[in-house]
Amino acid sequence: MVPIKIPTDLDAVLDAAWEAARRVSGYMVENEARFLGLIAACAPVKGAIVEIGSFKGKSTVMLAKVAEHYGLGPVVAIDPHNSPELLDHDSDPSASSYQDFLNNIQSAGVSSLVEVHHAYSSDVSSTWNRPVRFLWIDGDHTYKGAKADFDGFFPHVVPQGMVAFHDSLNVFSGPIRVFVEDVLRSNQFGAAGFVHSIAWSQFRPEDGALFQEQRTRLERVAARLIPMVKDDRELRGLEKIHFKLTRSRVPHAAIRPSEWASRLNQFT
Ligand SMILES: C[S@@+](CC[C@H](N)C(=O)[O-])C[C@H]1O[C@@H](n2cnc3c(N)ncnc32)[C@H](O)[C@@H]1O
Repeated sequence: MVPIKIPTDLDAVLDAAWEAARRVSGYMVENEARFLGLIAACAPVKGAIVEIGSFKGKSTVMLAKVAEHYGLGPVVAIDPHNSPELLDHDSDPSASSYQDFLNNIQSAGVSSLVEVHHAYSSDVSSTWNRPVRFLWIDGDHTYKGAKADFDGFFPHVVPQGMVAFHDSLNVFSGPIRVFVEDVLRSNQFGAAGFVHSIAWSQFRPEDGALFQEQRTRLERVAARLIPMVKDDRELRGLEKIHFKLTRSRVPHAAIRPSEWASRLNQFT
């Protein structure tokens, strides 16, 4: 196994990447963006960084800035840019996030580092044949949507590559269920965890079983959220309190890069 190494200039690189990404409107807080940058910088294998769900480009800019600095090749950004949840199709049926996305990656100076796919993930995955070092899923948050995103690209994630899902600890049925069922319960995966609402793991088909005990510990608390979010509807009153209490039992604090690396490297 290739150990994860934290570059000595990582903090400065993440500071600069966040400085650019924070200017883009979107749904990612600083700790999540920095963690995303950490994964992109440190995944110890070669291949594409694939982002499913770009919206106006906040996470795209974060990833592309890090990729640019470390020479990690293009960020593949996939989005049909027609989100019925995020865009007001009542007042403008043709509303799209595409132009804002293009403007934002240009303003951040990363257009040449982003491979843009104005498309659904399934349209891209159906013909995809390149290795993936980091699969970042932040698209359709229904179970069907997140499962299709994962199934479409996971076969291309290279051993020791990384997968991560956004909004896994918010009220959406997809990310948490796919993460619990397909990742935490699978011996193909190694170290795993949550940082804020990002669920992450390393693909370790050869020795993932070594991490089974810690994955199972996490799976027991995380799986309790699945029935609470299965209908993708807003929770209110006692239901909401119950959800928040259950979520608080899932460890999801920000983690220092060195601590994260030692979790990944523990059996290496
Ligand atoms: C929560 S937003 C993404 C936020 C973005 N990552 C950021 O940092 O601001 C979800 C996006 O997923 C996109 N989306 C929905 N279904 C999709 C699919 N099947 N394939 C790719 N993108 C999809 C939506 O158009 C929307 O822009």
